[in-house]
Amino acid sequence: MNSAKIILDGKEYELPVTVGSEEEIGIDITKLRSQSGAITLDNGYANTGSCISQITFIDGEKGILRYRGYPIEELAAKSRFTEVSYLLVFGQLPSKKELENFKHDLTHHSLIHEDMKKFFEGFPPSAHPMTVLSSMVNSLSAYYPESEYEKDQYLNIIRLLAKLKTIAAFSYKKSIGQAYVYPHNDLSYCADILNMMFSVQSALYEVSKVLEDALDLLLILHADHEQNCSTSTVRMVGSSEANLFASIAAGINALSGPLHGGANQKVIQMLQMIKNDGSNYKKYVDLAKDKDSKFKLMGFGHRVYKNFDPRAKILKASADRVLNELGISHDPLLEIAKNLEEVALKDEFFIEKKLYPNVDFYSGIIYHAMGIPTSMFTVMFALGRLPGWIAQWVEMREYSGAKIYRPRQIYVGETERAYVPIDKR
Ligand code: SDX
Repeated sequence: MNSAKIILDGKEYELPVTVGSEEEIGIDITKLRSQSGAITLDNGYANTGSCISQITFIDGEKGILRYRGYPIEELAAKSRFTEVSYLLVFGQLPSKKELENFKHDLTHHSLIHEDMKKFFEGFPPSAHPMTVLSSMVNSLSAYYPESEYEKDQYLNIIRLLAKLKTIAAFSYKKSIGQAYVYPHNDLSYCADILNMMFSVQSALYEVSKVLEDALDLLLILHADHEQNCSTSTVRMVGSSEANLFASIAAGINALSGPLHGGANQKVIQMLQMIKNDGSNYKKYVDLAKDKDSKFKLMGFGHRVYKNFDPRAKILKASADRVLNELGISHDPLLEIAKNLEEVALKDEFFIEKKLYPNVDFYSGIIYHAMGIPTSMFTVMFALGRLPGWIAQWVEMREYSGAKIYRPRQIYVGETERAYVPIDKR
């Protein structure tokens, strides 16, 4: 198949078709307007491809997710977040030497400029850590002005991957009024995050392997997800040739929304609300079905997955294991989540609208069990998604046909009219 035909006002237009490596079909409308004067309309870009990409493949009907061709189930079981970050950004699994060098560079760029600590002081303690995170990432471009794109690119990628966890941990410490704990060169990526968040000067902190492994798995599962809202934002901002830090800061802001990455925080708040309401989860399933209630089951539904979200399946299985390993025999929030899932999956409303648990439904339960505060859940999502954002930004910048994102519109406002002087209105 290499073309599609559109008949408009009796005239036929032939448009080229692009077929992807997984047989996905894209009708290329690049020349549609110049040929026919018409554009397409697609609310929320639900049916519009913004690019061709070699990074992540999702099949929403079959519940498939692969990073650079590797199934998420295999990476979750056999890989580590630093290796997955390398895979996403550079396109191949690293050799032992390549991984060693990558980890060395991440370790030795994890400090932030001491002057940046002053920015934290400017925020009120109540500032949401996502607000702090995006502001601090944006300010990195003041410290590392992107002079020569090619020369600095690797360094800026390393700086961002290495410093985001330090910024995240510092914003947490600031929010609880504790002194910052600096990155520790002997710790792994995830152990270092936990150490910077939970250790205090007055007491030795032993990073638990269970927590380190649980966090590593969570970051892998969040690492990329093709053209979601925040990744599209990173591409959009980067398409004007804005620098990497400014583009990622914009992505962090998009992720903070409750319909996107902010949902993981909303899920745990919803489960706690249900627990406080006598764990009456059926009442909330019914509420979600009543359009006038405006209530949504947070952590349910997805634009692409119209079957199970493979990440939610993996997280559901690991939630039991992590809670057991943490000695939590009974977590009422996990019970409520499982009951909600069971009832919803049998309910006609959810079946008809193809609403299944997504990645945010179980992730919050594990973060909660790990002692990570709810306000930091979406920051954890951002830490996981960072290598994906970077990989997508680099792919967009290096694509030979790269163009600035500039969608069109269909105007439905007032037609031309004359200005009326104020004394005549
Ligand atoms: C993420 O894109 C990605 O890949 C995102 C992500 C990633 O890794 O980057 O996977 C991460 O953002 C996951 C989604 C987290 N958000 C939530 O859990 C919030 C709750 N979910 C919904 O808001 C919603 O399902 C979205 C935003 C996720 C998807 O929205 P869509 O694709 O625009 O679908 P929609 O809102 O048009 O819903 C279709 C119908 C609607 O009813 P009708 O207008 O057809 O009558 O289903 C209903 C919706 O009202 N619906 C829900 C619902 N989600 C959708 N009803 C009740 N509860 C819900 N959770």
